[in-house]
Amino acid sequence: MINIGPYQLAGRAVLAPMAGVTDFPFRQVCRRLGASMVTAEMSASNPALRDTRKSQLRLANPDDAEPRTIQIVGTEPLQMAAAAQYQVESGAQIVDINMGCPAKKVCKKLAGSALMKDSGLVREILAAVVGRVDVPVTLKIRTGWDPDNRNAVEIARIAEDMGVQSLAVHGRTRSCRFQGVVEYDTIGEVVQAVNIPVFANGDITTAIKAKTVLDYTGAAGVMIGRGAQGRPWIFSEINDLFGDKAATSEFFTAKSLNLNNTRNQEHLIMEHLVHIHDYYQDFDVSNNNLNKTDSRTSVPKSEDCKNNRKSEKHTELAVRIGRKHICWYFEQMIKTLVDPYNKKDLNSMESRKLEQQVKPLIIDIETAKKQFNQLSSCNAQLEHIEHFFGELHTTGDIAA
Ligand SMILES: Cc1cc2nc3c(=O)[nH]c(=O)nc-3n(C[C@H](O)[C@H](O)[C@H](O)COP(=O)(O)O)c2cc1C
Repeated sequence: MINIGPYQLAGRAVLAPMAGVTDFPFRQVCRRLGASMVTAEMSASNPALRDTRKSQLRLANPDDAEPRTIQIVGTEPLQMAAAAQYQVESGAQIVDINMGCPAKKVCKKLAGSALMKDSGLVREILAAVVGRVDVPVTLKIRTGWDPDNRNAVEIARIAEDMGVQSLAVHGRTRSCRFQGVVEYDTIGEVVQAVNIPVFANGDITTAIKAKTVLDYTGAAGVMIGRGAQGRPWIFSEINDLFGDKAATSEFFTAKSLNLNNTRNQEHLIMEHLVHIHDYYQDFDVSNNNLNKTDSRTSVPKSEDCKNNRKSEKHTELAVRIGRKHICWYFEQMIKTLVDPYNKKDLNSMESRKLEQQVKPLIIDIETAKKQFNQLSSCNAQLEHIEHFFGELHTTGDIAA
């Protein structure tokens, strides 16, 4: 079991913070599908940015499953400490500090992964934040600034010294961004160097890979980012592999709900889409006013999905976010079809035969994805999904 302060995680797979991805609806989906902890998108520590719609959307949501984890990013120790306190007062139960983000916007101010260049400043920030809040503070790092400056072990030791309660390590340097092989060896070295739980992160896209990485690095858990986009049931698959039954809600265990079955995918996608529209439709895109009495707290019941059509109250924002997430589901369906014929153990004849079998379906999915991207209302998006799956059910399930 992984403990972070008073919180005991039910399993060993957690969702990585991803700006523009891990919003409240997606976090809900991942938690229900077995992520043992989810982290919101990073929130700037600069108070001048606090009242923006973006920052407000990134606050802890009272309906987020516990522990409600919020990530902060910044440069100044005192400002970071104040930001942590503000987040806790707004409902955060764990404060995560971002020293992993490679974005230029973030790095040019010596924030995110750039902080790893200055271990003195890292120490000051961690001391200030841990000293200010009563909740656990966690840290997300890379393996270093660049291949000549890999100092993840040094930073991890500082973090433990300063009272940080868990670490997530993306196994690449900042200069590697998302390219090249993940350094699971360095993650293993960090695990050896500290006594706090370490989450291994980077390129984990299947349950088997999660097991291989855990075995190889000795990490307490895995953190999944892009592997959960369009495939949030990866968490239940990992829980299933490890027998972490408590981590996945009963309804969504991989056994009771095979998400490679198209009916179950339809159910999940419709529910996710309704939730996106419910959540965002009351955020007025034309100004920064947040309607606090909106449907942030209402989780759509799955059986209501099809009846829960919204009027034209939808916002552009919800439509855009819907497109992003639903297209990942489409891409994941294509991947599920393509993967088998790319398998190395098939000869070229077998591979071509399989490819020909699934090609028409891939074209259908690509067309559906393109059409979906042109729709501009909640109802049109829901109807499109319903129609797409209606056709697909008659063709047969996408095999696992
Ligand atoms: C779109 C996107 C946004 C991200 N935003 C953040 C962020 O806000 N904070 C952070 O610490 N890492 C962020 N990351 C990095 C991820 O948390 C993770 O470390 C990285 O994607 C590697 O894991 P993966 O291979 O499982 O995706 C982001 C990554 C992506 C792809």
